[in-house]
Amino acid sequence: MMEKATEEKRRRDVSFGEMYTWHEGMEWNPVERVILERRSVRRYKEEQVPEKLVRRVLEAGRFAPSAGNSQPWKFIVIRDPGMLEEMEKYVRLRCRLLKFLLDWESSPLGRLSWFLSQVYIRLMPNELHPIPFGAIRLIADGKLRLFHGAPTVILVLMDRRGVSKPQVDVGICGQNMVLAAHSLGLGTCWVGFVELFKFGTKWKRKLGIKWPYRLMEGIALGYPVGEPDGMVARELHEIDWWEDGRKRAVF
Ligand SMILES: Cc1cc2nc3c(=O)[nH]c(=O)nc-3n(C[C@H](O)[C@H](O)[C@H](O)COP(=O)(O)O)c2cc1C
Repeated sequence: MMEKATEEKRRRDVSFGEMYTWHEGMEWNPVERVILERRSVRRYKEEQVPEKLVRRVLEAGRFAPSAGNSQPWKFIVIRDPGMLEEMEKYVRLRCRLLKFLLDWESSPLGRLSWFLSQVYIRLMPNELHPIPFGAIRLIADGKLRLFHGAPTVILVLMDRRGVSKPQVDVGICGQNMVLAAHSLGLGTCWVGFVELFKFGTKWKRKLGIKWPYRLMEGIALGYPVGEPDGMVARELHEIDWWEDGRKRAVF
C-alpha cells in the first residue's frame, strides 16, 4: 500500500517537475508562477471558450475549502451575447444615475450631490473608494465595459446559510477559478460591479437570485488579447513575526 502511494507521488513529481518539494535557489514552481503572473485581463478575443474548459474552471471552484465544508456557493454561467449586452446596458444606466447623484464635480445637483455622497459614504464606507468611483464615471460615460467584452461570465453567488463567514469561502472559491483559468491559458477579471444587479428586481428574477443566495462577484472569462495590463504594484506590508519568545518585524 505504502509502496503504491510512494510510486503515485513519484509519478506526480515527475509530471509536475519541481512540485511538492523545495530546495535553496529553486525557481518558482508552476503553481507559484500562476499565482505571481496572473493579471486582470480587460481585453478579450471574440472567440468563445469551449464548454469543457469552463467546466474545468468551475471544478477548481468546487474544490475550494470552506468553513465546515459547507460549500456556500452557486455559479451562474452566462454565454449569451445578447444577455451580456443587456446586463452591460443596465449597469451603464445605474452608473449614470450614481454619477448624477454622487459625482459632485460634474453633477448638476452641485452641493446636494456632495451631501448625498457624504451620506452614501457613511452608510456604505467600502463602496465609494476613489478607484471604483472613477470606474463608475468611466462606465457611465461608455468608456469602460462591465465585462470588458469577455464572451463568458461566471456569477458567483453566496449561500447566506454557510458556516461562520461564507464571504471568505466564496472569495477562495473565486480565486481557485481565476488561478485555474490562468493556468489553462485563459484570462479573467473579477467584476465587483455586478453588485449593482442587487437593485434590479428584473435581473434578480431572471437570474433566479433569491434567498438564501446573494450575488457576490462576477468573473469575466475568455482568451486575452495581447498581454494583460502588466504588473500591478503590491504594498510590502510589515509582518509581525513571533519566534523564540520575541517579536520581529519582517517584510
Ligand atoms: C473582489 C474584486 C472585485 C473587482 N472588481 C473589478 C471590477 O468590477 N472591474 C475591474 O475592471 N476590475 C475589478 N477587479 C480587479 C482589480 O482591479 C485588480 O485585481 C487589481 O487592480 C489588481 O490587479 P491584478 O488583478 O492585475 O493583479 C476586482 C478585483 C477583486 C478581487
